[in-house]
Amino acid sequence: MRSTLFLGAFAGLAAANINFHWVQPTCDFTSTEKSPCLKGQSCTEANTCEANVSDEQVYLPAFRRAVPAVKRQAVYSTDGSCGPANGNTICDPKSTVYTGTCCSQYGWCGNTAAHCGTGCLSGCGGAASSSAPPTATGGATTPRSDGRCGKDFAGATCDSKGAFGGCCSAYGYCGSTEGHCLPANGCQNGCTGSTTSASIPVITTATRPPSTTTSGEPVLGKPSSVVAPPTNPTGKATTDGTCGATFGKTVCGSWPQGSCCSMYGYCGSTTSHCGAGCQSGPCVGAPVTPPPGPSPAPAAAKPGSIAIKGRSGVPAMHAALMPNGKVVFLDKVENYTELKLANGQYAYSSEYDPNTQKLAPLAYKTNAFCSGGVFLADGRLVSAGGNAPLDFIDPTVKDGFKGLRLLKRSATDATLDGQAWAEPGGKLSTARWYASLQIMPDGTIFVASGSLNGLDPAKPENNNPTYEILNPSASPQGKSIPMAILSKNQPYYMYPFIHLMRDGNLFVFTSKSSEIFNVGSNTVVKLLPDLPGDYRTYPNTGGSVMLPLSSSNQWNPDIVICGGGPYQDITAPADPSCGRIQPLGAATWELDSMPEGRGMVEGTLLADGSVIWVNGANKGAQGFDLASNPTLEVLIYDPTQALGKRWTTGPKSTIARLYHSVALLLLDGTLLISGSNPVEQPMTAPTAAHPYVTEFRNEIYTPPYLQGNPVRPSAVVLSSKALKADGSKFTIKFNNKAGSKAVKVSLYYGGFVTHSVHMGHRMAFLDTTGFNAAATAQTITVTMPPNKSVAPPGPYVVYVLVDGVPAIGQFVMVS
Ligand SMILES: *[C@@H]1O[C@H](CO)[C@@H](O)[C@H](O)[C@H]1NC(C)=O
Ligand SMILES: *[C@@H]1O[C@H](CO)[C@@H](O)[C@H](O)[C@H]1NC(C)=O
Ligand SMILES: *[C@@H]1O[C@H](CO)[C@@H](O)[C@H](O)[C@H]1NC(C)=O
Repeated sequence: MRSTLFLGAFAGLAAANINFHWVQPTCDFTSTEKSPCLKGQSCTEANTCEANVSDEQVYLPAFRRAVPAVKRQAVYSTDGSCGPANGNTICDPKSTVYTGTCCSQYGWCGNTAAHCGTGCLSGCGGAASSSAPPTATGGATTPRSDGRCGKDFAGATCDSKGAFGGCCSAYGYCGSTEGHCLPANGCQNGCTGSTTSASIPVITTATRPPSTTTSGEPVLGKPSSVVAPPTNPTGKATTDGTCGATFGKTVCGSWPQGSCCSMYGYCGSTTSHCGAGCQSGPCVGAPVTPPPGPSPAPAAAKPGSIAIKGRSGVPAMHAALMPNGKVVFLDKVENYTELKLANGQYAYSSEYDPNTQKLAPLAYKTNAFCSGGVFLADGRLVSAGGNAPLDFIDPTVKDGFKGLRLLKRSATDATLDGQAWAEPGGKLSTARWYASLQIMPDGTIFVASGSLNGLDPAKPENNNPTYEILNPSASPQGKSIPMAILSKNQPYYMYPFIHLMRDGNLFVFTSKSSEIFNVGSNTVVKLLPDLPGDYRTYPNTGGSVMLPLSSSNQWNPDIVICGGGPYQDITAPADPSCGRIQPLGAATWELDSMPEGRGMVEGTLLADGSVIWVNGANKGAQGFDLASNPTLEVLIYDPTQALGKRWTTGPKSTIARLYHSVALLLLDGTLLISGSNPVEQPMTAPTAAHPYVTEFRNEIYTPPYLQGNPVRPSAVVLSSKALKADGSKFTIKFNNKAGSKAVKVSLYYGGFVTHSVHMGHRMAFLDTTGFNAAATAQTITVTMPPNKSVAPPGPYVVYVLVDGVPAIGQFVMVS
């Protein structure tokens, strides 16, 4: 099976882009002489040179192969193989065995566009130009116009925005593939950059196809076999990054995003492409590092408790804690909710007061179905994207695909409470259903991904694997820019996890892949290794949390991602594994696991920096009626413990929280849990076909730090509620009980919660001085984070914790 797969893959690859200009050598199987076969081939009993099926290395593109430890010195190839995986040879223009001076990214000499174009490792000038081994001919440390670089050219660098690419390969050629950019492949300079997103073609169409099924959501279904056999590729190379059985049986060839054809028919080079289900190209089969299975966790010494309290009024698809201390719930157009507007229509958004359980209906103008969101620098909440109108249900709500909805609330102006979402008229530049948002240090908003019309792996024209930037006021800049990590990970490209890091770059994770992305230059700063295990993003989303930042960890982010699943079907077993990575540090995944597989599980930071994981299911996926075996237990993750000791279990809820549920931290330090609406239109009573229905009950999880009603710090007064992320200081006065030992102050950004993705979510511990353990009335001095990459502008909550017990939090504005 495996060798057939590799042979099939090789045949496709060879036909697609190994356009040799020499006669394939014949061989003598019985001969004891040195084989005339190329490197990576051996002589078969039929006296033909065939690819080494026993050696997976042979089939991997150069950047995936083991790099020989030999000196990187340009030596002419004698047999037509070249590059890092083939003895660091370059192509000999005088060779009589082969033709061509360009070494392709797969390590073969030739002079076709596939060899000399994107990914070319050496001799890339093509047949016309000289391909003599580089010699020291002078040059400058600035980019040269001929795309040559490195030590043989006086240290010339590459222009990341130029025609060639920003990385200097071991052989002195500028390019943007991993063969050029990875230090392991001998990259000489510019090595942090890898792929310019803009240089990658993206499959989109100018106009959205007509929308027909907008009240529902398409489903990928269960693959007929998780490891699909190769589908006899035609050998015809893709022209748009699609491939395989669904797309004319094309192969990926030298497609810039990678040469493996994924199970769903998209070209790429990640484990989702080359691993299980790979249709053609350098498929690698089983994962190298299997993720850990479930690991039992002990019950927490202090588990906290859960109580049912209040209602959401509308299905809680999206939620955020607003600066007035109330929670806004936001839903799609429905034919039933518990609240009505003055115009007689159902409300699809509500404002919930956790202190009084009172609800107010909120109006909106465009369908917010599966939107993304974040807070603006001025404190308003934005919801971006959505879905088509459903006139037959509510003619007053319009098309929300490009919608931008704004909600303003204030800690000091109660007259804003209850006011409707404002839609002053700005629109996203392209339709986005399931986009993720993140605020940047300069207050602009990064909006990524989304569907133009519903997820269907056979319809790339439905997809929008691009990003766009909104101005700080949420007015659009009007341009959608292709983003390679989204493009190649279709259909698992929606609702990506995005975290802003201290250097101003974004950590972006989708499917199983992640990278560090620089928005300003539209470049991939670093490709991170794939996270072993199943898909982690929509429609098998788990949760992703950036752990607390502090001066003691140099504000260096640790990101933990848990849960997920292998395919979008009710039979899909959820993934228990978690990966934790320091993208700016070692950048390797440390694997861990929850006590059980969980999809749609979401992690929320508590005021003390521990992480609570709730909601989700042990079986199934996101989508209507697609999950069962609800996971009811609260899981507590203490990031400060050693690996293997971080998880403990809390209480069990009695309420299934499946698709379209949420969790977020309230000002009083408790966790609000709400939602679950895994049916197309609300149902209040289960049937055999719909065992899980619409849930309007809220729950409050009281965390360990409030168990037993400890005395909270009180009378908290901040010297200012307009704070600057510039290392400046402010003071906090408060009272604490006698005999207290230590204070901690956290600066907490809850963000916009939907589909177990917490957009913008982050917290920082602030340095403090002046706590007097002998006193009960304190005045402490608190230092703000050093810059806006650590604390981007917007509304935050300040929690003062004494010996781990939080005071009631207070909203501040950070600029
Ligand atoms: C290919 O396989 C042959 C025989 O199995 C082995 O001797 C040879 O080392 C392999 N070549 C490479 C490049 O792996
Ligand atoms: C809402 O729509 C569903 C599905 O179309 C239907 O079964 C249900 O009766 C409708 N509910 C109301 C209250 O109209
Ligand atoms: C922000 O501060 C951190 C910590 O001092 C530093 O590492 C980082 O480079 C700064 N970010 C920017 C964009 O200057």
